[in-house]
Amino acid sequence: MSNPGKGPGKKRMGGPGRRGGSGVGPRKPSRHAAGKPTGRPPSRPDEQPRRRSDSRYTTNVETVTPIYLQTNTYFAQIAGGLEELGAKELAGLGATNLNIINRGIDFKADRETLYRINYRARLITRVLAPMHKFRAENPEALYLETKRIDWTNIFRLDQTFAVFANLSNSNIDHSHFASLKVKDSVVDMFRKRFRQQRPNVDSDDPDLWISLHMYDNQATLSIDCSGGSLHKRGYRQQAVEAPIQETLAAAILDISGWDGKQKLYDPMCGSGTLLSEAWLKAGNIPAQTLRRKFGFMMLPDYDRRVWVKVKFEEENKIKMVRGGLIRGSDIDPKAVKMTRGNNARLPYGDELIVKTRDFRELPVMENHLIVCNPPYGVRLMKGEDMGAFYKEFGDFLKQKCKGGQAFVYFGDRELIGTIGLKASMKMPIRNGGLDGRLVWYELY
Ligand SMILES: C[S@@+](CC[C@H](N)C(=O)[O-])C[C@H]1O[C@@H](n2cnc3c(N)ncnc32)[C@H](O)[C@@H]1O
Repeated sequence: MSNPGKGPGKKRMGGPGRRGGSGVGPRKPSRHAAGKPTGRPPSRPDEQPRRRSDSRYTTNVETVTPIYLQTNTYFAQIAGGLEELGAKELAGLGATNLNIINRGIDFKADRETLYRINYRARLITRVLAPMHKFRAENPEALYLETKRIDWTNIFRLDQTFAVFANLSNSNIDHSHFASLKVKDSVVDMFRKRFRQQRPNVDSDDPDLWISLHMYDNQATLSIDCSGGSLHKRGYRQQAVEAPIQETLAAAILDISGWDGKQKLYDPMCGSGTLLSEAWLKAGNIPAQTLRRKFGFMMLPDYDRRVWVKVKFEEENKIKMVRGGLIRGSDIDPKAVKMTRGNNARLPYGDELIVKTRDFRELPVMENHLIVCNPPYGVRLMKGEDMGAFYKEFGDFLKQKCKGGQAFVYFGDRELIGTIGLKASMKMPIRNGGLDGRLVWYELY
């Protein structure tokens, strides 16, 4: 599996969702479980829309038990090249039976571990809970097989959903069309059961994220139990042009082997992603400490007590970050302000030290870990000679950062040759659409 394609646009389709709580299924609705006020009273069983036992109102299709409930198996999506690191992280959080595949990891986990992974993991992009696998050689099969999941037991009429499809090598080859087929099937199931009422689609921030993956006409329908990509931590409310992705910044720190004790410095910090990820790591802070709504809250077996326990345990592990351990600077005062504001959203994050400085004016800093993602393109450095700029950065590392190490992410690998330092490692890692390289320099 790989990243889901774009879902259908945000639309209000069909009749209005039933207000005032139309809880369906045995669990409490997720928004209440998340503790977020909704401005309406929690739903009670007697408020649920009545199901008709009349055969006219049933789907006539036998529903299946979700795969993840039978096997405790999940799938974690991760950027290509980071699979081994991601598997290590998942194992550390309690996952078992890990099986690495291209841009993903299959694993087994109990409920507690699943919640912990979604809350803590720094490297993976999302976790999918597989519901149903089937062959779908044509759109009708996709439509009918989608009905084999009892969606009315998963979300309510007044909640929103979105379908994200990722297809390859299959007869159905248009992801937007495939996601519409799944959407129609889900909607028709609700309509049939609840007198033509149906839930709405919201592709920006749905309550339920449904993933369809198809390869070789073999389809898997899953629920995104992260509830949107985990690279969105919530701390980065403002960003410079071309920021580094949070999961990639976290991976760079792991690849560097940083133990959270050696002093760390980013001399071109931009909006501070590498610094904030270092803050999370050193402070043992769950990566999703700011997220309030997780997809696992929509799973039919969601147990709020287990979630409260996991959250409590993990929050208790947060510690103060030693003063002066993590520092950074940028030539642009606006970037420095963004870094401060972003990091301040993290526990104790307003204590981060960040200054406005040209790296060429920085004092000597020996035995540091330097992490950095310098500007790489015409957009960022209009008119400047990038080669000369990188040569000066190489000189800064060589002359002022002795006894340390530098991990530099090059958005443009053509620039590696201009820095004038011998690399100890080069690793291809994609950041957004960029085929970048992470390069390690040992600074004697
Ligand atoms: C690609 S951005 C860094 C993005 C950052 N990693 C993030 O995630 O937001 C490069 C940064 O280098 C800064 N920069 C450019 N020339 C500099 C210089 N001479 N000294 C310090 N910072 C510089 C820019 O202002 C910009 O914020």
